[in-house]
Amino acid sequence: MVNIAILGFGVVGSGTAEVLTKNLSLIEERIHRKLNIKYILDLRDFPDSPFGHLVTHDFDQILNDPEVTIVAEMMGGSHPAYDFSLACLRAGKSVVTSNKEVVATFGDELLAEARAHGVRYLFEASVGGGIPIIRPLTNDLSANEILSVDGILNGTTNYILTQMRTEGTAFADALKAAQQKGYAEADPTADIQGIDAARKIVILAALSYGTLLDPNGIHTEGITAITTEDMEIARTLGYAIKLIGHCEKIGDKVLAMVSPRLIPLSNPLHTIDDVFNGILVDTDMLGTSLFYGRGAGKLPTASAVVGDIIDIAKNPSTDVAAPVFKKDGRTADFGSYVCRNLLVVSGGATVVACAELTEVMGEKTAIITAPISEDECETLCRSLGTNLISRIRVL
Ligand code: HSE
Repeated sequence: MVNIAILGFGVVGSGTAEVLTKNLSLIEERIHRKLNIKYILDLRDFPDSPFGHLVTHDFDQILNDPEVTIVAEMMGGSHPAYDFSLACLRAGKSVVTSNKEVVATFGDELLAEARAHGVRYLFEASVGGGIPIIRPLTNDLSANEILSVDGILNGTTNYILTQMRTEGTAFADALKAAQQKGYAEADPTADIQGIDAARKIVILAALSYGTLLDPNGIHTEGITAITTEDMEIARTLGYAIKLIGHCEKIGDKVLAMVSPRLIPLSNPLHTIDDVFNGILVDTDMLGTSLFYGRGAGKLPTASAVVGDIIDIAKNPSTDVAAPVFKKDGRTADFGSYVCRNLLVVSGGATVVACAELTEVMGEKTAIITAPISEDECETLCRSLGTNLISRIRVL
């Protein structure tokens, strides 16, 4: 019998209990053993839930129960999620999590603790909801050098941008709908300001390049400044606007960033709408591959959590293939990052020396620059002064 405990009975925690119940017989067939949810830790009681009788408010009851060998942490936030995960690993229990904040901040340390105690720490659900991306980057693509990763990594913002573009829905209404569908974080500021996507690209960069950057230290822009006018201009020029997490290696340093991007029609991320996430991985041997699916929501995310639980039930001891990454300070200088940019300027026919395209649109001019560095673009934007209406990077 495999006994598990669920920490946090919110959207993903309750989804995990649901998946484990609905697909129990096929899961038990796959692990060749019985599986049992023994405890659910939450501050609240759930008298109307079929899992209500499993609720405990006492973490120590779980920690001190030797029958519990797998703990699924889905509490959200850093504390006490990190502290509970650490305690479980030290007590010889494997931990699975959907908590990107914890993985992006303490993942190096928790993986090392798991190794030291002969157990496992898995986090497939922390990036891309139900999409397999952690295992492919860790295992299947490990013969490759990762050249870059570009991902639509936040379902809430992709849903909002899609609603704004296709339905003309106001930002606030689209956000409310995303919250009702269970996509958004408890505090949706983390979604709309790009913070959630920043944590996720930091995790993907760690898996790709072995260095865990500070998620609060990377360049992070959200979607709050994007207007329907920007979307219209982008559409006229043949682009969609998406919030993109990007990472690449520059020399021996690692660059990770989050910002809205113009995505050309030719890029497979162009058509990825609604809550769907898409992660484009460019490598030296395979070339480009796309990982696509539902990036948020109860059952899709729980699907990845339960996949990790099954993996541990089959292979409970130290994960020989586990990723290793560390905080070694290999942070690339953002000023030297190079890309094309859309500049929207008030007034007609503005002349910009590095323009690859200049299109007058009524009272405004849209300019696509040649590839220039962040530092060069900053200087250019300053020179345009108050005439500059918006600047959006091109992917
Ligand atoms: N709030 C997150 C999103 C949940 O919208 O993508 C999944 O990590």
